[in-house]
Amino acid sequence: MNDPSDLKRFTYAERVTHWVAGLSFVFLLFTGLAFSHPRLFWITNLVGGGSTARVLHPWMGVLFTVSMAVMFAMWAKEMGIQDQDRAWLKAIKHYAVHDKDNVPPAGKYNAGQKLFFWSMALLGIAYIVSGIPMWLPGGVLGVGPFYGGVVNSMRLVHYLSTVGGGLLLIVHVYLGTVAYPGTLRGMLHGSVSRAWAKLHHPLWQKDQSGP
Ligand code: HEM
Repeated sequence: MNDPSDLKRFTYAERVTHWVAGLSFVFLLFTGLAFSHPRLFWITNLVGGGSTARVLHPWMGVLFTVSMAVMFAMWAKEMGIQDQDRAWLKAIKHYAVHDKDNVPPAGKYNAGQKLFFWSMALLGIAYIVSGIPMWLPGGVLGVGPFYGGVVNSMRLVHYLSTVGGGLLLIVHVYLGTVAYPGTLRGMLHGSVSRAWAKLHHPLWQKDQSGP
């Protein structure tokens, strides 16, 4: 199935970490949506009912936070914004309409991917910081107890960050699947075709050995 000229894009550890983050985040989005309005509470039936969802949601949040921390440790050094990224951002309208000829070449990640990474890292902090007072209002590790005003403010932060993260995820999934065929393969099997790399990440492709 793999062509010898394929390029290794993600290690096994990177892929497992990404999918733990991805699947736990989707679980959190759906159960969070269920808690947000009584009319949506039926969604909890998909995961075993209301009580199960209520117990699992914060623990999945812990799993998501840990996977995000590992992802951060693995990828942060590759996500710095460089001159090529600033040029790419200036041409983002061309990228949006698939006008490839006017999009400056990207490295392993384009500037949009890098900004998505940093946004999710910040949102990850917002979720856990705002989630803990709702989960453990009596306090944890010597911090707290958290009173009504704090819990309610944190609930607002949690909701707003979820709307932001949910919208970003829709764009991320769209770009990683239907918009750019051949991309998902890298995150599933670890490698991409050289032609895909040349088209989407030409500077990275040039750095890899081979034609
Ligand atoms: C659940 C559905 C998801 C799908 C289908 C998906 C798909 C993908 C794919 C195909 C890539 C590789 C892109 C490339 O090779 O250039 C990728 C990369 C990445 N994913 Fe996901 N992902 C999902 C969820 C998530 C979630 C929930 C997060 C973080 C909270 C996340 C964070 C990232 C990051 C930081 C990268 C590297 C930078 C980038 O490509 O944007 N992904 N994802």
